[in-house]
Amino acid sequence: EVSHVILTGGVGSRLWPLSRQSQPKQYLEIFSEKSLFELAVERNKPFSDQLIIVGNSGNKDLSEKILKKIDQDKYTNIVEATPRNTAPAIAFAAFSTDPEAILLVTPADHIIQEGESYTKAVQKAIELAKNDCLVTFGVKPTTAETGYGYIEFDGDNVISFREKPDKENAQSFLEAGNFLWNSGMFCFKSRVFLNELEKLAPEVYQKSHEAWLAAEDGCLDFDNSMDIPSISVDYAVMERSNSIKVVPANFEWSDMGSFEAVYEYFRSKGYALDSNDNMHLGELKPTFFVGVNNCILISTKDANLVVSKEASQDVKAVYSYLEQYH
Ligand code: GDD
Ligand code: MG
Repeated sequence: EVSHVILTGGVGSRLWPLSRQSQPKQYLEIFSEKSLFELAVERNKPFSDQLIIVGNSGNKDLSEKILKKIDQDKYTNIVEATPRNTAPAIAFAAFSTDPEAILLVTPADHIIQEGESYTKAVQKAIELAKNDCLVTFGVKPTTAETGYGYIEFDGDNVISFREKPDKENAQSFLEAGNFLWNSGMFCFKSRVFLNELEKLAPEVYQKSHEAWLAAEDGCLDFDNSMDIPSISVDYAVMERSNSIKVVPANFEWSDMGSFEAVYEYFRSKGYALDSNDNMHLGELKPTFFVGVNNCILISTKDANLVVSKEASQDVKAVYSYLEQYH
């Protein structure tokens, strides 16, 4: 049995002001007439018998509205009281299923081209997961991106996993040629994941387990959740495990994690840039860039952002500032 676990708890702070708490990027319809969440559900339906959504109470309604629209009435909601990052989020999904169930874990906010390559990759991952492996999907890297995990591979074996390296290391991984980007999708049996988590990050395992046992109807409570260390699956498990495999992700893949990624996506689709490679996103109105290069202007009803393309990762700081002081 395969369960599709969709992680939808992030706010997409690096895409502020397009993305915000009340309307995270995975629910926006800016990339096509369907939201990224809807596309992710539909894309993985052919491989799975069950859908498990792990998110916060704020996005539960947004998810349900979309599921209703596409007539999907069978799904399980796991509602977090406070975000503890992806290691606990995946643990909750694993606790909720049969230990032998295979989980296909995907983010809700990527653009992926479904088709033969995607189907092949997922089918191969499911086969490997049956043999008790933790499976990652590796994307051929094109730049020394620092916001991703890097997978050092030899065939389908993973030699090492490096989450979010600094620029210098990212550059050397890119040049080495035997590294792939971690796509952020995973496949494994619930039991196998939980055993690794217990072995490699015991506190995360224990506190997540206690919180899960205290949860009611898949809803976590705040006090127990606050005891769980906030850590991503990449740091808690992938960097430390010796049982990881990788399948090549030879499909079009794009993480809409930063405005640079959004910019590159729209550029590849032939979206208009001015002669100095500036781009305007959001509410359309006559806009001119004079004397600046590689800038992105994002305009919305109540906020604007001007960011130089290279500094896209730093938008998170604006979001944190607003959260703290407003
Ligand atoms: N339910 C839940 N709870 N979901 C969460 C939480 C949480 O606390 N935190 C993040 N998520 C969701 C996000 O909404 C997103 O869909 C997914 O989990 C991944 O989280 P990100 O915060 O976007 O991770 P990242 O982009 O920094 O890094 C991950 O993805 C990269 C590729 O896009 C890592 O797996 C990297 O190794 C990878 O390269
Ligand atoms: Mg991301």
